Amino acid sequence: MEYALDRFTAEITAAIAATKRVPPELIELVTPKANIPADLAFPTFKAAKALGVAPPQLAAELAAQIQPTADVLIGAVVATGPFLNFSLHPERLAHMVLTTIALQGDQYGAQADGAGKTVVVDYSAPNIAKRMHVGHIRSTIIGQAIVNIYRATGHTVIGDNHVGDWGKQFGVVLAAIEREGQTRAVGEAALAELEAQYARYSTAAKEDPELDARARHWSLRLEQGDREARAIWQWCVNLTMSAAQRNYDRLGVQIDHAYGESFYEPMLAEMIQQALDRAVAFRDDGGAVVVENLQNLPTFLLQRSDSGTLYMTRDLATVVFRLREFAPSAIIYVVGEPQALHLRQLFALTRAMGYANDVALSHVAFGTIFDTTGQPLSTRRGNMVYLEALLDDAVARARSVVEQKSPELPDGEKQAIAEAVGVGAVVYNDLYQDPKRNITLDWERMLATEGNSATYLQYSHARCCSILRRAREDGGSGSHLDATLLTHPAEVRLIKHLARLPDALREAAERYAPFVIADWCYATAREFGVFFEQCSVLKAETPTLRSARLALTAATAQALRRGLALLGIRAPERM
Ligand code: ARG
Repeated sequence: MEYALDRFTAEITAAIAATKRVPPELIELVTPKANIPADLAFPTFKAAKALGVAPPQLAAELAAQIQPTADVLIGAVVATGPFLNFSLHPERLAHMVLTTIALQGDQYGAQADGAGKTVVVDYSAPNIAKRMHVGHIRSTIIGQAIVNIYRATGHTVIGDNHVGDWGKQFGVVLAAIEREGQTRAVGEAALAELEAQYARYSTAAKEDPELDARARHWSLRLEQGDREARAIWQWCVNLTMSAAQRNYDRLGVQIDHAYGESFYEPMLAEMIQQALDRAVAFRDDGGAVVVENLQNLPTFLLQRSDSGTLYMTRDLATVVFRLREFAPSAIIYVVGEPQALHLRQLFALTRAMGYANDVALSHVAFGTIFDTTGQPLSTRRGNMVYLEALLDDAVARARSVVEQKSPELPDGEKQAIAEAVGVGAVVYNDLYQDPKRNITLDWERMLATEGNSATYLQYSHARCCSILRRAREDGGSGSHLDATLLTHPAEVRLIKHLARLPDALREAAERYAPFVIADWCYATAREFGVFFEQCSVLKAETPTLRSARLALTAATAQALRRGLALLGIRAPERM
């Protein structure tokens, strides 16, 4: 699919090249400053220097030579000092953008840049027998948006949920269950109970060496594949994953695999041996396998002196498995900032062992969540929020907004809208800015119908839908599109903006930055607001203008729906 702005760029480059004045390698285009009435510019400095002429003179010569034909998107060519400024032809642009959006529908903006390339995204990764805390919430939401964005840029994307289902602590989990019995609760409540059992057992074991020994015994049984230990462990895995699934369903999250840390157990001995053989690690006097002096990073272990393996050992095996299984060009880890050092060590270790030399290993780190009093959410402080409770809270609050705004809707629809709005508010709060930044749980802002919130974007979309619905009810929606009528400045600005989604998508993928899409959605909604204020749609002066404006409204709805879908946010038709 060729998009309007790509075509515009290609046409300009070709037009400048056709003058034979400028060598092709010196044709570089820039976006003019906001106060310049042009869409792309060619700064002539470099070319003029190479040709030994003054830049304004070259710009003027080129402007005189370039005569856009009637079949290109270039409208005007003007020399302004050293710049050669190009403007889009508004009518032709309108025609192309509206046709493309109508044609591509839910795929608008999709591209093939990533065709043939596979990307693994490591995200969500809750820990078994525990609730998902804020770190997992952010990883789940940001990770899914990155998956959606990479799929839309043509990559084959493999999502992998690297669940924490292995390690010494499972001895305590199993011993605690043995002592207190298996809970009958479901969802987050069941996991809360497992956490409480774990805490009670750990406290008691501090006083009672018997209990401590019991936990170590269970840990050993599990590692050796004992049937009973495995069965209880599996019960914990199922309980945790089904609780997670309830949240994933609400969030529209689908993760291809959940191999989990335990899956790599059979590879660990080989990994440790390789690290020793390749002299990346050494065995110390106590028997531990140590990695020291790796790119000035702090020392770490691959095996403890009691022969136990570590999170790092399993992460190393995970990389090797992914390389063999998926042959990716990149592995993207969506993990909180506190694990930045762990991942730097992992990446350095992987490379030192000779793996992944031509594979990008990236850490998309994210900040933490604060409450409105400015405190970071934490278990210790007692202000922690967990995913299911957070979503329920959001939906309940959204329900009261819906109750106020649309009391006339049927109850079932109100609830569906509240679900989309509440969940959307949580998702957008994670995505509207650079993931590195901390976020605040501020319901006022998150559910505001004005400003940069999912609610505002959903309202804008619903507003488009309501105009289209009313037009259909009047019967006069008209199907013939004469896009050349869309020349009002607010219309032109909105159309140019709609044309930018493919670029935004590309940039979002390159920078691992869903907020680029969020910014695009927000600006689109604002441009639509201006258009709606300045141009009457249903009461347009002529039936053909009305049809054209309805087509623009439909395109806006479609594009906004697409932008929101990339972020994992639903767009109800009525609100
Ligand atoms: N389960 C881990 C945690 O909760 C996150 C795993 C991240 N992914 C990885 N490959 N280490 O902290």
